[in-house]
Amino acid sequence: MKIEPAVAVVGHIGVPGDKSVSHRALMVGAVSEGETRVTGFGRSGDTEATIGALRALGVTIHEDDVDTLRVEGAGLRGLNTPSGPIDCANSGTTLRLLAGLLAGQSGKFELTGDESLLRRPVDRIAQPLAEMGAKIETTGGVPPLWIEGSELRGIRYELPVASAQVKSAILHAGLYAAGRTTVVEPLPSRDHTEIMLAAAGADIALRPRRASVGPAERLRLEEVDVPGDFSAAAPFVVAATLLPGSELTIHDVGLNPRRTGLLGVLERMGARVTVFNRRRTAGGESVGDLEVHFAELVATTVSAEEVPQLIDELPLFALAAACARGESRVEGARELRVKETDRVETVTTSLRALGVRIKKSHDGFGVRGVPTRPKGGGMASNGDHRIAMLGAVAGLVSREGVELRDPEAVAVSFPGFFELLDSVTQR
Ligand code: S3P
Repeated sequence: MKIEPAVAVVGHIGVPGDKSVSHRALMVGAVSEGETRVTGFGRSGDTEATIGALRALGVTIHEDDVDTLRVEGAGLRGLNTPSGPIDCANSGTTLRLLAGLLAGQSGKFELTGDESLLRRPVDRIAQPLAEMGAKIETTGGVPPLWIEGSELRGIRYELPVASAQVKSAILHAGLYAAGRTTVVEPLPSRDHTEIMLAAAGADIALRPRRASVGPAERLRLEEVDVPGDFSAAAPFVVAATLLPGSELTIHDVGLNPRRTGLLGVLERMGARVTVFNRRRTAGGESVGDLEVHFAELVATTVSAEEVPQLIDELPLFALAAACARGESRVEGARELRVKETDRVETVTTSLRALGVRIKKSHDGFGVRGVPTRPKGGGMASNGDHRIAMLGAVAGLVSREGVELRDPEAVAVSFPGFFELLDSVTQR
């Protein structure tokens, strides 16, 4: 697929429901009592994997509409052992968050996934869950993973890396543990699990860099209104910032401060993004509208402290940095190396192929930015949805366009992305 250069992006759009919140609404709904109605659900390859996994565990999910689902809660201990392995496809969130809930069920469960998922580290959840008393086996630190439900005890666990998936797996298991379970984070990661569990009536206590949960007797969620996915809005924010004449409004975007680090970084670079109509949704997340205008950018450094707040947007930051005046850097982002691909490698090789002066480091990258359009060329995402979306935005802001070799990778997080991009692009 060839993405041709554009002159501007103009108009009003909405983006699909937040992927992280959608996964959690389904999972917490599945172990709640009664029915959970999820509106604004973000449909994607990853969230379909969660639907499939929960159905395999015996949960009834009604799909009333593309973005409206009802989950019939099976109760805290109501997940059944399926006849075969549970396929989490490409979704690390499905596998890691579900593992926490399965640790408290009775029966033995196998979690597996696609080629990319089978390379991703799961010791980071196996270790704390085992410490809580779960019987858990991995395949040399990666999936397939086997969990056998057992009596759990609460622990205090210091996360070696800031990871919301690991934190969430432990908090999920904590619902079933005797005593309190506390997770201490080196840096604050996204807190959608804490928000969702609190909405479901769990005994959650929050302090800076620390979340704890007490054993639950029952959960009840009822309504979750999923905000638009900030990570799905991000490619549009960057495209509008980089293309002169752009004026784009993105409605109903999730604005959880632990997700919107890209806005602060872009603002520092000179971007013009205005947030308005900020409010709270059923389910407790904050949401608002974003208005983005073109701006000339200057370079900046993203520090290790900031990284968890824009971890999924760092590929797009690299492109913004490529068009900003001066040298930009990302530090302390080793976690990029264990995403759907090693994103330090895939971001640097794909952007270099388009004429961007970018150099990898052990825990990030450096970019020598010039305020002109990168040349363009061909790029492959290696099946990584965020790299494919980066390629699409790079195509718009390039001089010669970008030939995307595997655009289908985008469907893992954002089906309909290219059509939406096309609808606001002026050429
Ligand atoms: C996610 C957490 C992040 C993020 C991923 C979704 C979540 O991963 O990169 O896309 O929903 O909890 P880590 O927890 O591994 O940093």
